[in-house]
Amino acid sequence: MQVATDEKFWDEVRKAYKVSPDFINLENGYYSLAAEPVISAQEAHIRMINQIPSYYMRKKQWENHKQVKKAMAEFVGVSPEEIVICRNTTEALDTVILGLKMNAGDEAIMTNQDYGSMLATFNQRARRDGIVNKVISLPLHPISDQEIVDAYEKAVTPNTKVILVTHLINITGQVLPVRKIAEMAHSKGIEIIADSAHAVGQLDFKIPELDCDYLGSSLHKWVGAPLGSGLLYIRKDRIEKVWPLFGDDTYADDDIRKFEHIGTHPCATELSIIDALEFQKTIGIANKQARLRYLKNYWLEKVKDNHNIIINTPYEAKRSSGIANVGVKGLAPAELADKLFDNFNIFTVAINTEAVKGCRITPHLYTSKDELEQLISALNTLSA
Ligand SMILES: Cc1ncc(COP(=O)(O)O)c(C=O)c1O
Repeated sequence: MQVATDEKFWDEVRKAYKVSPDFINLENGYYSLAAEPVISAQEAHIRMINQIPSYYMRKKQWENHKQVKKAMAEFVGVSPEEIVICRNTTEALDTVILGLKMNAGDEAIMTNQDYGSMLATFNQRARRDGIVNKVISLPLHPISDQEIVDAYEKAVTPNTKVILVTHLINITGQVLPVRKIAEMAHSKGIEIIADSAHAVGQLDFKIPELDCDYLGSSLHKWVGAPLGSGLLYIRKDRIEKVWPLFGDDTYADDDIRKFEHIGTHPCATELSIIDALEFQKTIGIANKQARLRYLKNYWLEKVKDNHNIIINTPYEAKRSSGIANVGVKGLAPAELADKLFDNFNIFTVAINTEAVKGCRITPHLYTSKDELEQLISALNTLSA
């Protein structure tokens, strides 16, 4: 916890990032910059592969691929035989949502705060195969884990096959009690898909702690790997239940490598995941989580008593991490985002959904307290 407030330590970390001087970047949720050592390593990988292109593909790619999987599996605490390196969360979770053996009338539960692409994919399955999607609402300020588990449980019927759970909700920053939802689901024979797009590399956890059946993440978000790196996890005994998106008849149905038949792809990106994990080790995932939470609390604490400011993120420590969402009374989300950018040079993103209205504020390890002071001052001015 002490490291979280050690500004000298974070000044050193900041030096590893080449941040644009043009604006204050508080929108690190879409994806965030990789550190300089990672980008330099990626450049070197591109050059090395470019020099020996077909030789690399035929003689070296698979050995290196094994090393990437080993490093990634170790980081998330599972076996390499349970993970696939892919391009992003969308690819990871679409593989599962489209590949699960579900028939007409089978039901899936999700929430109106889940990511649009996942909801769209479930909708596509409803149109193609006649599955039934139950979309529930979740409280923005839950009073207990049980309240959240109950919200999912109420939608369960004898036909429920799967529940999609967003581990760290991107639009509000709320962290859901995945394990407790999984316990409820498993007791009824229902499987859990965890959307951990923002959780891997931001929260200090290992996948088995969640007890989920499937999980997807984007490593270009919080692991700091280059753009286009993702992770799919499928519990060993679930692998044979999922059809791969790309046809494969090389591997057995219960072999995770059946999902790796993706054609010729940019191997340098995948190789750089090892460099991103190495860089992250120099900081430590526990320190990273503590710092991101500290930065979020730093600004949130200073605006939360302002009656014209609406906070869409739970206050309880375990229910959020580095991301929070804030609104200003009388300003539409897009107006707030525009004013923050046009008048204060602060880049955020407007969130305007049925369930959540506000701006998502996402600092990163390179965010300084001075930048957060500018945010606080801007929010106070705009809400005055
Ligand atoms: C919760 C959540 N799931 C999935 C995604 C999709 O990630 P990607 O575009 O990297 O596939 C995002 C992206 O922001 C997200 O926030």
